[in-house]
This record gives sequence, structure tokens and C-alpha cells, in this order.
Amino acid sequence: MESLSSQCISRSITKLTGFTIFLAFFLSGSLFTSIEAYDALDPNGNITIKWDVINWTPDGYVAVVTMYNFQQYRHIQTPGWTLGWTWAKKEVIWSMVGAQTTEQGDCSKFKGNIPHCCKKDPTVVDLLPGTPYNQQIANCCRGGVLNSWAQDPATAVSSFQVSVGQAGTTNKTVKLPRNFTLKAPGPGYTCGPAKIVKPTKFQTADKRRTTQALMTWNVTCTYSQFLSQKTPTCCVSLSSFYNDTIVPCPTCSCGCQNNITQPGSCVEADSPYLASAISASSSKTSNTPLVQCTNHMCPVRIHWHVKVNYKDYWRVKVTITNFNYRMNYTQWNLVVQHPNFDNLTQSFSFNYKGLTPYDGLNDTAMLWGVKFYNDFLNQAGPFGNVQSELLFQKDRSKFTFEKGWAFPRRVYFNGDNCVMPSPDAYPWLPNASSRLISSLSYPIITLLAALAFLLASA
Ligand SMILES: *[C@@H]1O[C@H](CO)[C@@H](O)[C@H](O)[C@H]1NC(C)=O
Ligand SMILES: *[C@@H]1O[C@H](CO)[C@@H](O)[C@H](O)[C@H]1NC(C)=O
Ligand SMILES: *[C@@H]1O[C@H](CO)[C@@H](O)[C@H](O)[C@H]1NC(C)=O
Ligand SMILES: *[C@@H]1O[C@H](CO)[C@@H](O)[C@H](O)[C@H]1NC(C)=O
Ligand SMILES: *[C@@H]1O[C@H](CO)[C@@H](O)[C@H](O)[C@H]1NC(C)=O
Ligand SMILES: *[C@@H]1O[C@H](CO)[C@@H](O)[C@H](O)[C@H]1NC(C)=O
Ligand SMILES: *[C@@H]1O[C@H](CO)[C@@H](O)[C@H](O)[C@H]1NC(C)=O
Ligand SMILES: *[C@@H]1O[C@H](CO)[C@@H](O)[C@H](O)[C@H]1NC(C)=O
Ligand SMILES: *[C@@H]1O[C@H](CO)[C@@H](O)[C@H](O)[C@H]1NC(C)=O
Ligand SMILES: *[C@@H]1O[C@H](CO)[C@@H](O)[C@H](O)[C@H]1NC(C)=O
Repeated sequence: MESLSSQCISRSITKLTGFTIFLAFFLSGSLFTSIEAYDALDPNGNITIKWDVINWTPDGYVAVVTMYNFQQYRHIQTPGWTLGWTWAKKEVIWSMVGAQTTEQGDCSKFKGNIPHCCKKDPTVVDLLPGTPYNQQIANCCRGGVLNSWAQDPATAVSSFQVSVGQAGTTNKTVKLPRNFTLKAPGPGYTCGPAKIVKPTKFQTADKRRTTQALMTWNVTCTYSQFLSQKTPTCCVSLSSFYNDTIVPCPTCSCGCQNNITQPGSCVEADSPYLASAISASSSKTSNTPLVQCTNHMCPVRIHWHVKVNYKDYWRVKVTITNFNYRMNYTQWNLVVQHPNFDNLTQSFSFNYKGLTPYDGLNDTAMLWGVKFYNDFLNQAGPFGNVQSELLFQKDRSKFTFEKGWAFPRRVYFNGDNCVMPSPDAYPWLPNASSRLISSLSYPIITLLAALAFLLASA
């Protein structure tokens, strides 16, 4: 009798703390995104740009510039990166391989041999696929597309070679370029100053000889959704087999339909003008989305459906829907936080990788499409969705359908935080009573949120 009641108590305590942790994640999530540029799920995420001087020339140097996208789940998709900097002195770019500057600038004082670029602040873009081999170097010419590190480290690297003139010709006289800017192609990245580091060592293909750069410097760029000043770009809707309610994306998650201030901000799916609106908009070079009219107005919606409850397992169906008529998402990815990701048994048609932002924390997973099957999320319309099912093994001490436990805590699409329904709107099991718990747990929530914050900033 005694053991039974104590069991009951301990079980209700686990549920209670489960719920508070769940709420704390919401609170801490909004803390992270609103206060600072820091991404709690990818604390070391950055793009590092490395310059290796491989040759001193009579009037400068030749360097191989390599960008490493060390971000776990944020990639750069078409139309690709642009990289800019400001020269410290009167440097010019004699030539480039594997990339080009967007403008040559004023080279009028040169006669005979004209530089590739004379601008004080050159802007560099990658070359397109299909560039002749004699103008390529390794890791170039992907149109500026940079995969994320978790998705494919091999294509998360981009390189070009630059021959710099009117520059220092020794490691004492060379001046490092300043004010690096990385665009993807919009804002969001901030780059630190270039720092001289230990020269890179290169190994020959047969590993029998190692050479090294004459001088190396690194620049680190980090992303902030806050800096990119974007309105949200995705939202989450929820449903379950145990409750008929479909919890939709919050109204106006990504903007509101507003005929007065923004006429034509969205298109009805059945509008006879749809085709002309799409062709008119694609002729503009604008990257702003043209979305289907919905209550949430988001370009992308992620739907999480709790589908089946088995004895030892439970199953979820995830559907990603594209509402943007102007965008095909290539190599899309999803990051989802849910406590049962430590026991994901199978992901049926998405690739899967657990992310461990901190030791011992493995409740976060990255999901992305299977190559040539569903890695391409087509523009809005009948083919504009991809889906998969996830099978989780239950951990009996934690598993419950109550209090929205079966729903994700946080969802990112292509690295952007998606708007979630408010936790009190989550589909409930019939007869669930929560008033007491939610009123009891507020002080605990604040405490946990503070702890989560300390843990994350440590
Ligand atoms: C950039 O990312 C790499 C890989 O995660 C990490 O080792 C490095 O410390 C990061 N650099 C900075 C300045 O955060
Ligand atoms: C410059 O090169 C000399 C050798 O030529 C080396 O001793 C020195 O450490 C280098 N300095 C830097 C800043 O790389
Ligand atoms: C770098 O940028 C800052 C702020 O934009 C500016 O004040 C500074 O003059 C720039 N430095 C160079 C060398 O262009
Ligand atoms: C410089 O960048 C390279 C490539 O990302 C990295 O391997 C190296 O550790 C970096 N050096 C420093 C000191 O950050
Ligand atoms: C916007 O205007 C059109 C035509 O003026 C109207 O049919 C439509 O209902 C309006 N939409 C909203 C959300 O007010
Ligand atoms: C998206 O891809 C489809 C099929 O490849 C193509 O017909 C369409 O024009 C593309 N849309 C955009 C906006 O690039
Ligand atoms: C999750 O973390 C726990 C504790 O660190 C560890 O025991 C477990 O093996 C991890 N699970 C997975 C799937 O990595
Ligand atoms: C995964 O599920 C099994 C079976 O319930 C359980 O024994 C194990 O502890 C779970 N692993 C984690 C990391 O929770
Ligand atoms: C389903 O969940 C909603 C909350 O989203 C709740 O209001 C409703 O009562 C639930 N339905 C049943 C049958 O429990
Ligand atoms: C849930 O409520 C319904 C009626 O509101 C009742 O018939 C049913 O027995 C209750 N179930 C539980 C498990 O309390």
C-alpha cells in the first residue's frame, strides 16, 4: 500500500517536472532568440574563412582562400554566398581562379596588364557549376552553395585562389584585409577581424610529403537570426490520433494578410491570376517570398502528427509544406528538439543525425531529405511537400501523451526558428487536468529557465 502510493507520487512528480522542463524550454528558447545572437542548439556554429599564402610574388602574393561552414544545420543555398573585404593599402587583384569579383572597379592607371579588380572593397562570388576545368580549383564553382557540416562536410567547403598585387611581399610587410562581410546573400553574418594563425600544413595525395603555407590567417563569421532582421519564415502545426483538434500555426506567425498596407502580399491557391502572379514575380529579381494566402502567411509549415501508439514504441508523421511560389528549397533541413530523440529507432524517409550541443544533451536531431528522393522541396502547389515518419522507443519513466509531451519543443527549418503554437493550445488527452500543475510550477519554470540560460552561456 505504502509503496504503491509513493510510486504514484513519484510518477506524478516526473510528469510535473517533465511539464515544467518543457515550458522552460519555451521560455529559454525565446530568451536565446530575443536577447542575443547566440544559437543554443549550435553553440560553436560559425563559418571560418582561411587565407593560406602559398607564394610570394614580386609585388604581392598568391593565396588560397577557403570557407568552411562549421554550422551544423545552417547552409547557404542558391543564389549563394558573396564575400567582401576592404584592402588595408592599395592592393589590387591581378587574377582569380574559382571565383570572381562582381565589379572590376577603376583600373585606368594600369597599362598593358590590367588587374581583375582594382576596387578597395572587392566583392567576390563563386563561379557557376560547369566552369571549364582550367578555371577551377578544388571545392570551387558550386554557385556559392555551401552545405551544412552535419549534412555533408565534403560540400560544406568552398575555395578560390587570388593573386594579389601592390601588397606586402613578406610576412612582415603584408597587411591583412579588413572588414570582412559575408552575405548569404542577405544579411545575418558578422565577421570578426583576420587573425594570423599557425601556417596550414598540406599533405600530398599519397601522404608521403607535407608542405605548408607561407602564412595563414583566419576570419570567423557567425550568424544571428536577429541580425538578419527577418520575420519568421516557418511555423508549426500539431495534431494527434487521440484528439480531433488540429492545432494550426498561430495566426499571423509570419505576417498578416493586409489588403490595405500590402495589397497582393499573398495569392489565393485557386486564384485565376495565380499563374500570372507567379510569372510576373519571377521576372523580378527579388528574393521576397510570394506566399499562398493562409492564416499564418508563412512560406513553410511543419506539421507534427502523433500517429500511432504501440506497446513499446510510438510513431509520428512529419510533413513539411511549402507555401512559397517563388522558392524551391534544395537540401532543406529540419532541426527538432524533443526528449525522445535520445531513443529514435527509425526515420523512414528522412536522413537523421543527432545533435549534441552539450555533453549529455541528446534531445535534438537534424533531419534532411534523402538524395534524389525528397531532398528537393518543390515550390508551393501540388508537389510542394515532403514527409516522413519517425518511430521512437518509449522510455517508460518519461513517456506520456499528457501535457503535450509528445510534441516538439523547438523546430528550425533551414536554421530559422519556427513559430510554435502556444503550449496551452496543444491537443490534450481527454480529461487531462492541468490548471493545478501550471499554477504550481511557475517559480520552478523561472528557475529552470535561468539554469538553462546559465548552462548555455557557460
Ligand atoms: C568555429 O567552429 C569550429 C568548429 O565547430 C570550432 O572549432 C571553432 O572554435 C569555432 N570558432 C569560433 C571562433 O567560434
Ligand atoms: C615570418 O617568417 C619568419 C621566417 O621567415 C618566421 O620566423 C616568423 O615567425 C614569421 N612571422 C609570422 C608572423 O608568420
Ligand atoms: C570598417 O568598417 C567600419 C564600420 O563599418 C568603419 O568605421 C571602418 O572605417 C572600416 N574600416 C576600413 C578599413 O574600411
Ligand atoms: C583556422 O581555420 C582552420 C580552418 O577552419 C582551422 O583548422 C584552424 O584551427 C583555425 N585556426 C585557429 C587558430 O582558429
Ligand atoms: C483583399 O481584397 C480582395 C479584393 O479587393 C478581396 O476579395 C479579399 O477578400 C481581401 N482579402 C482580405 C484578407 O481582406
Ligand atoms: C522549381 O522547380 C520546378 C521543377 O524543377 C520548376 O518548374 C520551377 O520553375 C522552379 N521554381 C522556382 C521558383 O525556381
Ligand atoms: C544520450 O545521452 C545519454 C547520456 O549522456 C547516453 O547514455 C545515451 O547513450 C545517449 N543516446 C544516444 C542515442 O546518443
Ligand atoms: C531507450 O529506451 C530503452 C527502453 O525503454 C531504455 O532502456 C533506455 O534507457 C532508453 N535510452 C535512453 C537514452 O533514454
Ligand atoms: C483536445 O485538445 C484541445 C486542446 O487543444 C482541448 O480543448 C479539447 O478538449 C481536447 N479534446 C478532447 C476530446 O479532450
Ligand atoms: C473522461 O471523461 C468522460 C466523460 O467526460 C468519462 O466518461 C470517462 O470515464 C473519463 N475517462 C477517464 C479516464 O477519466
